[in-house]
Amino acid sequence: MASERHVNAARSKVFGEVAELYDASRPGYADTMVTEVLEYAALGDRAAVEVGAGTGKATVPFAALGIPLVCVEPDARMAEVLRRNVAGYPNVRVEVGDFEQWQPGSRRYGLLFAASAWNFLDHDRRWGLVHAALAPGSAVALVRNPHGVHDAGLRAELAGIGDRHGITGSPHRFLASDIAGGEPGNWDQAWPDTECRRDGRFTDLRSVRFREDLRYDTDRYLGYLSSLSAYRILPDDHREQALAEAGRLLDAHGGGIDVLQVTDVFLARTR
Ligand SMILES: C[S@@+](CC[C@H](N)C(=O)[O-])C[C@H]1O[C@@H](n2cnc3c(N)ncnc32)[C@H](O)[C@@H]1O
Repeated sequence: MASERHVNAARSKVFGEVAELYDASRPGYADTMVTEVLEYAALGDRAAVEVGAGTGKATVPFAALGIPLVCVEPDARMAEVLRRNVAGYPNVRVEVGDFEQWQPGSRRYGLLFAASAWNFLDHDRRWGLVHAALAPGSAVALVRNPHGVHDAGLRAELAGIGDRHGITGSPHRFLASDIAGGEPGNWDQAWPDTECRRDGRFTDLRSVRFREDLRYDTDRYLGYLSSLSAYRILPDDHREQALAEAGRLLDAHGGGIDVLQVTDVFLARTR
């Protein structure tokens, strides 16, 4: 849909405004996800490429296992924090630019992964670009980490604040119980499975969900909200008001929020 793409284009550029806050406030990804991806990929001596690496939330756990990695990240401010976070891993190279312009050269990778970044890539070209970067039989892993709020009353009030300030794609859509037993893809249209099947060049498609309970204190949760594109694209005064209201609400609920953090991963392999 044209309007959705327009919103995505605007949203894809906002993270660098708050690169340090993003790095400090966002949750990471479950270690079990990294293990699952690497078992599936069976990399051998091939390197991996990460698309939209941001500040390295998903990069670091792969890098820590010694995986040779090229990270493609278009925002120089995010890339600066990423470079700092991977400074101890000589096998990681950071390349600044859009994935759509990036050239794999003659190299073909054993794994391409993207964490919370797939939606920002050109919808018409992304499967072709992924395919071109991978050797035959190599893996693609698309990861996202939405959460569900445990307290139903708190979720409804937070969603109400979002509605009043025009926030779309709210992080308060789900109760923890909505996503506790579900599988990836059962609650939205953005899950890659259908598109990947339609593309036809991939096989062995899998969707896996990992779960973990997480508590944020008020300040960290406000930082997390501030780092979301849904909040960044708001006019400053709306964002400040929405955050102030959310802060008062969380303080009145014991100074924080309990969420069920899920890490969803979609896996597929080039034929
Ligand atoms: C929500 S952040 C995710 C960052 C990181 N992967 C994480 O999980 O924290 C989305 C990232 O995608 C990057 N991005 C946006 N458009 C992109 C594009 N066309 N090619 C590659 N990365 C892109 C943004 O700069 C941003 O760092």
